[in-house]
Amino acid sequence: MKKIEKAVLIIVCIVFASCENYVEDKYEIINQDCDPSTSFVSQIKPIIDNNCVSCHNGNQFPDLRTYNGVSTNSAIIKEQVVNRTMPIGDVLTNEEIDIISCWIDNGSYNN
Ligand code: HEC
Repeated sequence: MKKIEKAVLIIVCIVFASCENYVEDKYEIINQDCDPSTSFVSQIKPIIDNNCVSCHNGNQFPDLRTYNGVSTNSAIIKEQVVNRTMPIGDVLTNEEIDIISCWIDNGSYNN
């Protein structure tokens, strides 16, 4: 192989390798510390029902009575819960905040 061909081959390899790293970085959005089996039905919904639905019952945006209402607003829910703006007049434990945040980071599945 000529020197120039070797050089091109090496450059191509480096470019591909960096692309691969980029793709891996993107998927690291998923929080590895979160239990992927965190369940909406048995863990998230009870927290929302007990702490949010008294106000977010259809009269106050966002409507948090259903999975759809919760999942479509998951980004702002996470923000409001993590910075402790919500729930108004109540407090969540650190564990409850973590579990909501994890379920959202894992893709807010209806599980
Ligand atoms: C005592 C009533 C009350 C409770 C309980 C409550 N909220 Fe709210 N929430 C409000 C009101 C009022 C607003 C709109 C005004 C505001 O933003 O302060 C709001 C706004 C929001 C918003 C929208 C913020 C935005 O960017 O528009 C989100 C998301 C939210 N609440 C999530 C929650 C979650 C999750 C819970 C339970 C952990 C919760 N709330 C509990 C009254 C409540």
